[in-house]
Amino acid sequence: MTDQLNRRSFLKKSVSAGAITAIAGVPALLRGKNLNSKLQFAGIGASGKGWSDIKEISTHSAVVPVAFTDIDLSRMDKVKRLAPDAALFQDYRKMLADMGDKIDGVSVSTPDHMHAYITLDAMRQGKHVYCQKPLTRTVWEARQVRKQFAKSKVITRLGNQIHSHSAYRTGVELIQSGAIGKIKEVHSWVTSTGHGYAGVIERPENPPTLPTTIDWDLWIGVAPMRPYGGDRVYHPFAWRDWQDFGSGAIGDFGCHILDPVFTSLKITGGPNSIKAVHTGLNDEVWPAQETLYYNFPGTEYTVGDNFNITWYDGGRKPKSSLARMPKGQSLPRSGSIYVGEKGSMVLPHVGAPTLYPVESYADFKIETKESLNHYHGWVDGCLSGKQPSDGFEYGGNLTETVQLGNVAVFFPGEELKWDAENFKITNKPEANPRLTRKYRKGWEIKEVV
Ligand SMILES: NC(=O)c1ccc[n+]([C@@H]2O[C@H](COP(=O)([O-])OP(=O)(O)OC[C@H]3O[C@@H](n4cnc5c(N)ncnc54)[C@H](O)[C@@H]3O)[C@@H](O)[C@H]2O)c1
Repeated sequence: MTDQLNRRSFLKKSVSAGAITAIAGVPALLRGKNLNSKLQFAGIGASGKGWSDIKEISTHSAVVPVAFTDIDLSRMDKVKRLAPDAALFQDYRKMLADMGDKIDGVSVSTPDHMHAYITLDAMRQGKHVYCQKPLTRTVWEARQVRKQFAKSKVITRLGNQIHSHSAYRTGVELIQSGAIGKIKEVHSWVTSTGHGYAGVIERPENPPTLPTTIDWDLWIGVAPMRPYGGDRVYHPFAWRDWQDFGSGAIGDFGCHILDPVFTSLKITGGPNSIKAVHTGLNDEVWPAQETLYYNFPGTEYTVGDNFNITWYDGGRKPKSSLARMPKGQSLPRSGSIYVGEKGSMVLPHVGAPTLYPVESYADFKIETKESLNHYHGWVDGCLSGKQPSDGFEYGGNLTETVQLGNVAVFFPGEELKWDAENFKITNKPEANPRLTRKYRKGWEIKEVV
């Protein structure tokens, strides 16, 4: 009861002040920018995946959680319990301005449309950044984050925790060891659909009253203004469906499921081309079902000069015959088939890899790689100065590929040729504006030069 009362008066006070301020004194152990022993950590986006990021990062013994930001003050109970002395904010810009050198690194776990704005801002201010996948909402934003990362001497990591999971690490090792020979093609899929999160495909006609705990202007951020839609129409979680905020099923799962593909095949650049085929699109949400055909330049782990990666979502799947599984076995709900010269590997999301055909691999012993702590890997990098391999150069390239899918859907059935170096679609000039977005006044992202 006391807690509730305290919380209510806290919310009232903070909302009337327009922006929340610190509710407690800053702990005495705050130091200047000295990363020899401790990482002063702040979480941006305190609930949903943000809570799990904050909780996991804070289990590292060198982490001192010093501040948290969430635009929805009703979603901060857990972080308050985790670190009662940490400062709380509703606007991350105020947090960075007020705390200055008392923050060394941040996690960014907001909806996709705000990743680039916040991440760029934090990197410009010299903060280490752990940012959720996809790294950005647009292809252009991913390129800007890559460029800023190259300029800023900070440690970054994409919030793709399964990158460090035993299943994916083992799959990567198998491909690179040549267990199925060089790779001819890859097929990746997820059952999620691009309009299954909010469950509606048009904006609500009668938007409800905005709860006093939410700063809607901050939630909208870079996107065009629209009224609050009610619980789980946009906020929380359901923003994934909406083109203005989320990135559909490919945005939600592409960076996860394509991560072992990119890592194992050492894909360091963009595709040669992409084509989308789907069930239809309106101006608001992503397609219900889509297939994306990517063609990539070959690498040391693939056959020939180029190879195909095909993405399926919304219930579409590749032909199971590609996996060469025994009769009666079926493909997992989501994952990838790697089709090699000697056999196929099925790598479920998230599950142990299996090699086919069974008779060829009956005596093959798979050496399982151990899981690593992804969150601690970022913290260790911040402390040691050693950049993890999946920082914002890798994550930016992966995200560019994923978000190119969300460009191609506007030109269904057309093969778009991609010149990654010159950042343009060469055979369809009218597709190039789709690489970026229009920014709301006051929330523009400037090109990084
Ligand atoms: N790595 C994974 O396994 C995984 C799993 C789920 C989500 N995610 C990613 O995490 C991110 C968040 O997803 P979610 O499902 O938790 O969304 P969510 O909407 O449930 O939660 C987002 C949280 O951030 C807050 N927020 C929104 N805008 C903010 C802003 N500008 N500043 C500060 N706080 C803000 C919200 O109030 C909410 O508490 C997304 O990018 C998503 O793709 C990753």
